[in-house]
Amino acid sequence: MSSTPKRQFALQGAAVILVLSIAWPYYGWQATALPWLETSLAIGGVALFFATISRQPWWWRVIHAGFMPLVWFTHSLAIDPNWFLFGAILLLLVFRGALSGQVPLYLSNKQTVGALADLLTERGPSRFLDLGAGLGSTTVPLADALPDSQFTGVENAPLTWLAGRLLSLGRPNIHWQWLDLWQTGLADYDVVYAFLSPAPMPRLWEKVKAEMRPGSLFVSNSFPVPGMTPDRIIDVACTPPRPLYCYQL
Ligand SMILES: C[S@@+](CC[C@H](N)C(=O)[O-])C[C@H]1O[C@@H](n2cnc3c(N)ncnc32)[C@H](O)[C@@H]1O
Repeated sequence: MSSTPKRQFALQGAAVILVLSIAWPYYGWQATALPWLETSLAIGGVALFFATISRQPWWWRVIHAGFMPLVWFTHSLAIDPNWFLFGAILLLLVFRGALSGQVPLYLSNKQTVGALADLLTERGPSRFLDLGAGLGSTTVPLADALPDSQFTGVENAPLTWLAGRLLSLGRPNIHWQWLDLWQTGLADYDVVYAFLSPAPMPRLWEKVKAEMRPGSLFVSNSFPVPGMTPDRIIDVACTPPRPLYCYQL
């Protein structure tokens, strides 16, 4: 069984239905209130069992075991529900990409930026595009280090885009756009950089092949294109390892 979010939802849902379909009639028959703490613990246990027999990765098992007990605990704190609405909106504004395309926000580190700077220096003045540019962790330092190159960042999570926009202010060689990466044309760039997740890589590669010009370079941080041998792998000295997979068009 794969670990797609829909399957995880089904798995947790099955545990809820199973436990409630036993507990509700049982306590109803005894005319006593459902003990929510014990019920949530039972749901966690059953969900853990389902996750284990369907061989889900360990972190999903932990999530399944803890989810309902945590719901019970949070409910017992009697927090004003508006705070949850506020939190959900905030998460959506930052992690929109995780919901729509399984691409959350995490940032390229300094070592990766250094390796990208070396790569761009080798190639000479370039037009560089960061697909899903986050807060500008690549575009901002690279634009400062390489003033003869042009840097474009596209980002579609509103709050993340805004933070990146502010951090890019005063840098004329940064073009910061609120745009869906799938709507972004790749033909005008010498180097296209992506630090996304395994999920979009097959589709992204089709886009790269269709749009990037011969001689240009596609660089993927950490996530290789399935079934394609990179022309070069740059081993960035950092922990955890974050290799740069380079594909020459
Ligand atoms: C792993 S982060 C990488 C951020 C930045 N490139 C870096 O290296 O530090 C991926 C970013 O892609 C953005 N993203 C996800 N899906 C996107 C889409 N369809 N269009 C534009 N940006 C997207 C996310 O919001 C997130 O900020």
